[in-house]
Amino acid sequence: MNLSELNKVALAMVTPGKGILAADESSGTIKKRFDAIKVESTEETRRDYREMLFRSSEAMSKYISGVILYDETIWQDARDGTPLIKLIQEAGAIPGIKVDEGTQALAGCPGEVVTAGLDRLAERLKKYYERGARFAKWRAVIDIGKNIPSMTAIHVNAHALARYAALCQEAQIVPIVEPEVLMDGDHDIERCYEVTERVLNETFQQLRMQRVALEGMVLKPNMAVSGKTCPRQASVEQVAEKTIRLLKACVPAAVPGIAFLSGGQSDEEATAHLNAMNRIGNLPWRLTFSYGRALQAAPQKAWAGKAANAAAGQRAFTHRAHMNALASQGEWARELEKKAA
Ligand code: 13P
Repeated sequence: MNLSELNKVALAMVTPGKGILAADESSGTIKKRFDAIKVESTEETRRDYREMLFRSSEAMSKYISGVILYDETIWQDARDGTPLIKLIQEAGAIPGIKVDEGTQALAGCPGEVVTAGLDRLAERLKKYYERGARFAKWRAVIDIGKNIPSMTAIHVNAHALARYAALCQEAQIVPIVEPEVLMDGDHDIERCYEVTERVLNETFQQLRMQRVALEGMVLKPNMAVSGKTCPRQASVEQVAEKTIRLLKACVPAAVPGIAFLSGGQSDEEATAHLNAMNRIGNLPWRLTFSYGRALQAAPQKAWAGKAANAAAGQRAFTHRAHMNALASQGEWARELEKKAA
């Protein structure tokens, strides 16, 4: 393992003014997104849609540092036969790959899950590296509810995240470590804070025990937010202040960067929160985005499966990428959204 090379890639992934496009929806998840815009999900429509995003040259070259791909996409070619991964590299962005295989019910813990995919991971990482991937992603899912999460679920998920991260580094691939505490439920922001604190502490404990080099990874956490159906919704300032306090308490300064998931926040909320955190400033790590839905909801709507709408889809994607790029430097303002509209 060449740690200084891993560190260089990790820093490039969180370049100031840039962030990550999470385009790694599994076939099941992308089908849900396409259902919402009444587009049939086929290998070809998935390819066309993602090709449209990767050919958004302004967004890709100015605002996007890296793209997380799904296994199908990393082997796919554009309409003209160019590998999709090459479009990303030519735009100056780094290709990454989702390597977890989704969640499974966790034995003994009703209602809780554990992420699968460690078997044969070492061999798969080798193939992805040869294909051009320089970072990977593994998502652990922790749900908040009555009597959950259990200590068991937090522990096994953190353990798997660390096993994945160690294997990545050995394959010269930067691991994105993603322990996601879901925002579903009516819990308040304090409860989200407390659960996320336990999850992050256990995750870093496992990373240390399994000898993961913190300089060669990127953390992808949730923010401290109110549950979606909580009657008392925290303000943008409260989310920013609490999330920074939480991260300072749990994330060692050796980690080069933190790239948030959007997790079901609206496009503008996700941007406003990132912006407010970067306004606070004076942080030991770079803070940026690794958004899926908050970058793609608008382009999906504009594209709607029609080749004739590709330019409109690209404009919508470029706008969201631009707004989040500004937020990654604390330079976004709500008026900029209106101007573009
Ligand atoms: P969202 O931003 O839609 O939460 O997706 C990010 C991601 O990669 C989740 O694993």
